[in-house]
Amino acid sequence: MLDFMHYLPTRFVFGRSAEDKAGEMVRTCGGTRVLVHFGGGSAVKSGLLDRITASLEAAGLEYITLGGAQPNPVASKVYEGIDIIRKNNLDFVLGVGGGSTLDSSKAMALGAVYDGDFWDFFSGKALPKAHLPMGAVITLAASGSESSNSAVIMKDETMEKRGLNVEFNRPVFALMNPERTFTLPPYQTACGATDIMAHVLERYFTNETCVDLTDRMCEAVLNAVIAAAHKAMKDPCDYDARAQLMWAGTIAHNDTVGVGRLGDWASHRIEHELSAKYGVAHGAGLAVVFPAWMRYHLNLKHDVARFARLAVNVFGCEMNFANPEATAWEGVERFEAFLTSIGMPVTFRQMGGDPADIPALAESTKKDAQGLVGNFTRLDTAAVETILRLSDR
Ligand code: NZQ
Ligand code: ZN
Repeated sequence: MLDFMHYLPTRFVFGRSAEDKAGEMVRTCGGTRVLVHFGGGSAVKSGLLDRITASLEAAGLEYITLGGAQPNPVASKVYEGIDIIRKNNLDFVLGVGGGSTLDSSKAMALGAVYDGDFWDFFSGKALPKAHLPMGAVITLAASGSESSNSAVIMKDETMEKRGLNVEFNRPVFALMNPERTFTLPPYQTACGATDIMAHVLERYFTNETCVDLTDRMCEAVLNAVIAAAHKAMKDPCDYDARAQLMWAGTIAHNDTVGVGRLGDWASHRIEHELSAKYGVAHGAGLAVVFPAWMRYHLNLKHDVARFARLAVNVFGCEMNFANPEATAWEGVERFEAFLTSIGMPVTFRQMGGDPADIPALAESTKKDAQGLVGNFTRLDTAAVETILRLSDR
């Protein structure tokens, strides 16, 4: 196991009526003048926004609301928020919605106290040195943004979608009411479950040894998500299933199941190109990329034992001791069957992709200083292209 430091500053308020604690929590965390940022309207329609603003008023807090965070959130909205924060001398950002709204809020909280262009952080030109405190009211179990150190923003003009992982990105609190996810369309529920699984799998596929505790925790989260996703798809108002998904989404991406090991993250980088290019939901893009990434590694025969273990412990396969590779392949098939069963696309074309775009998508996938992406194996542009072609079946 690798040495690690893990600091999780987010306070979680979980359960029915969690949103009514907004005012109290903002005050506790030092906020007095709040930007309340939300998405395209679901929080207004459900009455959540009114509950939040009532709670802020009851706590004697001033606030300004700003809607319009869109899925795959864009920089132009971040600039708008930064402007409002500065002109009105606001000192707290409260994001109300899914990962897109929370990420947009995080970027505003960083950019408002920076003299330059906030995009400097996402382009790698500068590192943030300060931020405004930011709180999260999560309405979609998916991104884990409610306690992750990440934010993902897309530049409007170039459609570059870039992530920033810094500790300042962790919300100071997260209000988590599973009832608030009852209104999700089945497709978003499925995209969310897929994203949660992908966050675990990115960590599960490591070359680190002696990480049995986190391996088992990963498998537990995956099993819980599979069971709860089916229940929530069948009955959107199943509180217990929604609660399982919500907490799994948080655990999956705040590094609770990632410490002491180096995760992979190539599938996420590749997917960001798909959602930027086609406007596809992040979870749907992952449903296409992840099984292909698995096939690529099984073709290489890279750590077949780990794939076979996943197949047995998560996808219910029987271990073929004479031929573990067959078990590993069966696991990938079952993973894909699960994704299909919840309505996810699993091929490049089902997702709406044009195979002619594959070389450019492979080229634009963000690489590190060595021109590579991923850690389980290190992928160059040609390898990324191979993975995308494996998804085009
Ligand atoms: O905008 P509204 O009207 O709220 O509608 C949203 C949106 O259309 C809707 N929705 C959300 N909660 C709802 C609801 N509809 C009905 N009832 C509710 N309770 O769902 C749609 C999708 O919302 P979005 O926020 O885009 O989804 P998600 O939470 O999956 O976030 C996706 C974004 O997060 C990024 C992705 O790249 C993508 O941009 N990620 C962020 C991460 C992070 N910050 O740690 C990690 C992830 O890997 C991911 O990359
Ligand atoms: Zn994700």
